[in-house]
Amino acid sequence: MSKSAPRYVCQECGAVTARWAGKCEACGAWNSISEEAPRESAPKGLGGKPGKKIEFVGLEGATTADLPRLMTRIGELDRVCGGGLVAGSALLVGGDPGIGKSTLLTQATAALSTQVPVVYISGEEAVDQVRLRARRLGLATAPVQLASATNLRDIIQTLDVADAPKVVVIDSIQTMYADNVEAAPGTVSQVRICAHELIRLAKRRGFVLFLVGHVTKEGTIAGPRVLEHMVDTVLYFEGDRGHQFRILRAVKNRFGATDEIGVFEMTDGGLTEVLNPSALFLAERRGNVSGSCVYAGVEGTRPMLVEIQALVAPSTLSSPRRAVVGWDSNRLSMVLAVLDARCGLALSGNDVYLNVAGGLRITEPAADLAVAAALVSSATDVPVPADMVVFGEIGLSGEVRAVAQGDARLKEAAKLGFAQGLVPASPRKGKAQAAGGPLAIRPIGHLQDLLGLFRPGQ
Ligand code: TYD
Ligand code: MG
Repeated sequence: MSKSAPRYVCQECGAVTARWAGKCEACGAWNSISEEAPRESAPKGLGGKPGKKIEFVGLEGATTADLPRLMTRIGELDRVCGGGLVAGSALLVGGDPGIGKSTLLTQATAALSTQVPVVYISGEEAVDQVRLRARRLGLATAPVQLASATNLRDIIQTLDVADAPKVVVIDSIQTMYADNVEAAPGTVSQVRICAHELIRLAKRRGFVLFLVGHVTKEGTIAGPRVLEHMVDTVLYFEGDRGHQFRILRAVKNRFGATDEIGVFEMTDGGLTEVLNPSALFLAERRGNVSGSCVYAGVEGTRPMLVEIQALVAPSTLSSPRRAVVGWDSNRLSMVLAVLDARCGLALSGNDVYLNVAGGLRITEPAADLAVAAALVSSATDVPVPADMVVFGEIGLSGEVRAVAQGDARLKEAAKLGFAQGLVPASPRKGKAQAAGGPLAIRPIGHLQDLLGLFRPGQ
């Protein structure tokens, strides 16, 4: 590609092509390619200049992760970050607009500012707006240093000092721009260079860097995927704006477990932690209605009970509707197919709606059995016992497979007053997967046996 020719860059995946196309060949996205000015200097060969010799060290030795971690004292956030923040690490916080990213970071920085110097750089809001939010949250007196800026050069210049702050928030990375790159803020080249420079500085000066990232309508962080590779931790803030619950999910964490989630509630006074999410998710459950089933799930290290609701209704459409909220629609199709082929329960003439109550999104296959129970219950109009929790994975031949952390799931259920658990029978001796403690255990080996539980009159 010649030096002066324009480049066409996919805004989804960052792939570069020589000419514009409607569809990106690399990631398959439509209408994502836009023109960008050529790079100032195309990468050349290394030339004749000698390099420096690199030093090798052993695996053993001190690391920054051993240092005491900075605690935000927002328990849910600290846990999702793997037990506090590591100096020199970069965290990307993604989420839909209005979900509460700025609110969470305002609260976190306010708590951190009483321990270490903290700066909050907003490219989206004026200082006034950030102040108003802080006042609304009752945090106006916290010693956070505030600025409204978008020029990367100015920001780097300001932060690249010996007494650099210990925590820096950039809200958001899509509003930042480097003046040596001829592309609009938010484009792949801008996002990439801004993130790269800021992360490098964070490592060099040893501060914690929070980058707020916008999310595309497909639900991934806007800008190149490389952004996720560059940072140490990727947190997604999710939740339904119609619900007050917000889930902070670690999808990548170099300093802790992924799949860890923190649960918050958006209130008038900002985000408050939810210490017992199971109770919250089950709060509006009405016992003894058909089509509802309590699933004993585990999110990260934390057991969580949620209600799964199914509605099976006769359809007038030639291809009946399948609508899913909070679960994978492919998995629903699989469960429906297994019910049809292995258990003789054909729902192909019915519309099927599935909902995970409370706005939680479940990704575990361990929810299969609970989904199947809700479907069968709705189809037969026989309620699942109100005091029963269900978990188990379903295989294509209809077998119910054991899942991880069975005991933790049942313990949580017992804590919330449930009396029986429908759990996978272990393949050996048909014994139940988990002991159950105070719960009465009903082991189940094949999906067929589920239908037996839902005979009207039982
Ligand atoms: P915000 O943090 O600005 O979202 P983001 O930065 O992710 O775009 O949150 C905005 C929403 O949160 C807004 O609709 C108002 C609501 N909110 C509350 O309900 N309570 C509060 O105390 C605050 C500060 C915001
Ligand atoms: Mg914001």
